[in-house]
Amino acid sequence: MGHTDQPNTALATDLTIASAFPPAFLWGAATSSYQIEGATHEDGRGPSIWDQFAATPGAVYQGQTGDTAADHYHRMQEDVDLMAAMGLGAYRFSIAWPRILPAGTGKVNERGLDFYDRLVDALLAKGITPAATLYHWDLPLPLHEQGGWLNRQTAYAFADYAEIVAKRLGDRVEWWITQNEPWVAAYLGYGIGVHAPGIRDVQSAVVAGHHLLLSHGLAVPRLRAEVRPTAQVGITLNLYPVYSADDRPETAEALQRADAFINRWFLDPIYSGYYPSGLFADLGVAEPPVEAGDMAAISLPTDFLGVNYYSRRVVRALEPGTTRGIWNPASYEEVDTIPGARYTQMGTGWEVYPQGLADLLVRLKEDYAPPAILVTENGAAFEDHWDGDGHVSDPERLDFVRGHIQAMAQAIAEGVPLRGYMLWSLLDNFEWGHGYSKRFGVVYVDFDTQRRILKESGRWYAEFVKAHRQG
Ligand code: FCB
Repeated sequence: MGHTDQPNTALATDLTIASAFPPAFLWGAATSSYQIEGATHEDGRGPSIWDQFAATPGAVYQGQTGDTAADHYHRMQEDVDLMAAMGLGAYRFSIAWPRILPAGTGKVNERGLDFYDRLVDALLAKGITPAATLYHWDLPLPLHEQGGWLNRQTAYAFADYAEIVAKRLGDRVEWWITQNEPWVAAYLGYGIGVHAPGIRDVQSAVVAGHHLLLSHGLAVPRLRAEVRPTAQVGITLNLYPVYSADDRPETAEALQRADAFINRWFLDPIYSGYYPSGLFADLGVAEPPVEAGDMAAISLPTDFLGVNYYSRRVVRALEPGTTRGIWNPASYEEVDTIPGARYTQMGTGWEVYPQGLADLLVRLKEDYAPPAILVTENGAAFEDHWDGDGHVSDPERLDFVRGHIQAMAQAIAEGVPLRGYMLWSLLDNFEWGHGYSKRFGVVYVDFDTQRRILKESGRWYAEFVKAHRQG
């Protein structure tokens, strides 16, 4: 795509793409609390499992933590002004549970609520639609000390917390996301331990996954009781279209198992009220502890599905004698290096594959028919070239974003009820186990000075959003 060498052709193409989206389509950006806020000891915030995990030697790249992050807690207004200058129509952020309830349950910390109250007002003052995520992985540490997501009580605590937040912000926030990527919270946190709380046990991942789903189901009616009647309540899942690496019948079967593990583990309970048959046996673990009424709660109707899309999976049958990898304990094998494929800086598993977003969205429409879909994350880490002053060149990110927007246009043409796109991420931030070594922002953050610089990709996105608005 010739965004640098053929600006006029590129602009014409962008205008055509923009016209494929309905006028009310939400163009935004996304972040999460622990990744950007910093101020981990301020205004009564309690510790979270990520504070503890980041402080564990060897857990995070170079021992980095979210203590300062992008200092958003102190620069909130500046960041909202930046979004307004870009012309963004929406902002997806997450609320830090330990700011609201430092012990996880019990006493409410009003100063925590005040911060998000101010953020919501600042957004609305600029005409930016807030989309609030209630859990983006920063579980209050005291709850972890009582078992965390392995303890069923955490699901009830989450529903109480959701209600507290909705009572304060429900008069102004339209879009509510209960959980962010429960698959990742369960599997990376409890299955292979590369995320907080660092537990390595597949059985625990399955138990945690069930309680995360239950927490969503219990929170839905509690939220609805407090928010505006027009509010949209949903959950965000990380999903991947899965393709076969060869046409052997064994691979066709492996593809089904991979899809069950990667996508249907969370999709099926939410949309159908049951777990995929054979999944837990394939993982070599017992069924999760499902109690009477759980599946009905988990499958209560929601208003939209939040989709985080980064890449695809290409799989084949396991060769006899192959040991299963920790990333896929189910019986299939992933093809890590696809000839001719391009990868982001995240490497293996993060192939640039825009067509996959269109394929995924169409599949979701056909198999699950959610009333609406919001792309709640999509973006890429690439090496940025900052000139030390006001310019950051990131042509690969620009192409990535444009390619995925084009894929969404295709999905809309195929009838997918897509309502918005929240680019991951607004700012460079704490990328979990990778610390600050992977930059996903369309805004560059110089972490030494906390200076913000709009990257070329961000400039392009702002122009694109403007073109769409002017219709
Ligand atoms: C997603 C997370 C988000 C960010 C991106 C790169 O899995 O939800 O916080 O780390 O990946």
